[in-house]
Amino acid sequence: MIENGFEVAPETLYELIGTIYRSSDAFVSNFDENYPTIAELADHIVTLSKKPGNVLLVDSIGKKKLGFLHIEPRGPHKLRHTAELTMGVSPEARGLGIGRELLDAALSKLRADGVIEILYLTVRADNIAAIRLYERCGFEKLARLERDTLIGDRYYDGVLMRRFIEKVAPATE
Ligand SMILES: CC(C)(COP(=O)(O)OP(=O)(O)OC[C@H]1O[C@@H](n2cnc3c(N)ncnc32)[C@H](O)[C@@H]1OP(=O)(O)O)[C@@H](O)C(=O)NCCC(=O)NCCS
Repeated sequence: MIENGFEVAPETLYELIGTIYRSSDAFVSNFDENYPTIAELADHIVTLSKKPGNVLLVDSIGKKKLGFLHIEPRGPHKLRHTAELTMGVSPEARGLGIGRELLDAALSKLRADGVIEILYLTVRADNIAAIRLYERCGFEKLARLERDTLIGDRYYDGVLMRRFIEKVAPATE
């Protein structure tokens, strides 16, 4: 079941997103460094909620929250029609269709809102599951970012991907 993440308690989001970030080195940012406390995450959510075109979704099976998706409109006014996507699913629930459900719901919301026209994301080139999901949902590869990520002394290439958001035609009588 997809829920609006802005209606989920910050403590619950902190637990869910923190657990998913810690489970995978696919994420370039370090959740615990960015959000040392729940209050810092809650502040970020308030800031996000004020940006037109934002998306924050949580997906659950039964009562268990298992995935999140977040779309952050870019800051500069001249880039206000563009946004960046981040998402993740709990390790025990990967491959069950949650990622697809989250991404389909997010794309529907973007179309309905009519604010964001271009969605970008960067993914590690060896993250086959994520790249396949994004391609299935209409993203295209734009560029290979050589040696984009450095973990320990090992470099990993990244892939910059983009998806245009179709405008919904106004209903005619
Ligand atoms: C990438 C991720 C979000 C996918 O979510 P998921 O719920 O596991 O994916 P789904 O079950 O919805 O699968 C959707 C599609 O993704 C692709 N996919 C998912 N897992 C895959 C795998 N292990 N290998 C290849 N393709 C895979 C498939 O195309 C699949 O659709 P199909 O089965 O109809 O072909 C999830 O694996 C994850 O959170 N990984 C760790 C964090 C991460 O990589 N986040 C993205 C950072 S950019």
